[in-house]
Amino acid sequence: MSRLQSPTDAVPEGAQITVCEVGPRDGFQNEKTFIPTDRKIDIVNALFASGLRHMQVTSFVSPRAVPQLADAEEVLAGIDRPDGAYVTALVPNLRGAERAATCALDAVHTVVSASETHNRKNVNRPIAQSLSEFEAVFDTLKTAGIAVEGGIATAFGCPFEGVVPPEQVARIARRYQELGADSVSLGDTTGMATPLTVRAAIRAIREAAPGLDIHLHFHNTRGVGLACVMTGLAEGVTHYDAAVGGLGGCPFAAGATGNICTEDLIYLLQESGYATGVDLEALISAAQLAQDVIGRSLPGQVMKAGPRLKRHDPELTVTAAG
Ligand code: COA
Ligand code: ZN
Repeated sequence: MSRLQSPTDAVPEGAQITVCEVGPRDGFQNEKTFIPTDRKIDIVNALFASGLRHMQVTSFVSPRAVPQLADAEEVLAGIDRPDGAYVTALVPNLRGAERAATCALDAVHTVVSASETHNRKNVNRPIAQSLSEFEAVFDTLKTAGIAVEGGIATAFGCPFEGVVPPEQVARIARRYQELGADSVSLGDTTGMATPLTVRAAIRAIREAAPGLDIHLHFHNTRGVGLACVMTGLAEGVTHYDAAVGGLGGCPFAAGATGNICTEDLIYLLQESGYATGVDLEALISAAQLAQDVIGRSLPGQVMKAGPRLKRHDPELTVTAAG
């Protein structure tokens, strides 16, 4: 048996998997037409009603860079928080941390890219400058009692530079650990992750930053997002990001498309014997609401096909009579 399938490392069947819904952040940020604040809140509430508990609701970024998320404070003030809700938001800099500190947040997802060119495109500064500003960012968030998930974008490849060595990802993860991050999140910004690059990055981080919790954030740009989740499970990772309907994409990365789709991921996890706490039918309803609000067909497949055992009326299907 190869190491990839080694049962000693794998998440055992029956275990609880955390799925963090990032559609309201990663999804909405990539939509050109402004989604009214009350519609954003409706979608977040519908997602919580499906049983999802972890959600990245918005970003504290420049409203000139991402006008869609200029209403971050209003969205956070307007959403329902069911018991056990764990609400996060993306922060790229100190100004973002200061804004986040005034809001009801459980955690902040900071962002730096593993590749220089994408970091300059995304946050207009070199990697070293992002990392040095994170000292003040972490201080500010710690004082406010907000946990930090250290995000690393372009962790499996960069659309501008190509290969991103796992050692570079591990170096940033190690720095996050020194800063006091609770976890590190590997972002597959333009869907360049593959089972082998996922395994290499996880193992490099475990070596460089032992004990640091690893989260995985895949995009389905090349159709292998859920295969990468299977690799993550084989490597013992229990936390995955996904976006309702398969929304998502970074406006500052060439060729970026949607995240892995939350309903498709929940379907896979449940059919693989994992616990998610999510009602798939209710999640499909939330995806349909998101699709109605966004106003175009979304890439999610389970929202179109329905659960596996959905029964169709034979009267409604044509018979192939000769
Ligand atoms: N929230 C709101 N406004 C912010 C801000 C934040 N987090 N950070 C900076 N600004 C404002 C400043 O106050 C300043 O405003 P002013 O001109 O009215 O004084 C202006 O933006 C420029 O500030 P500066 O520090 O020079 O930022 P910049 O122009 O170099 O941009 C970022 C840097 C990080 C703010 C910007 O690149 C950004 O928002 N990137 C996020 C991209 C993103 O969301 N990508 C997808 C997710 S991975
Ligand atoms: Zn993303």
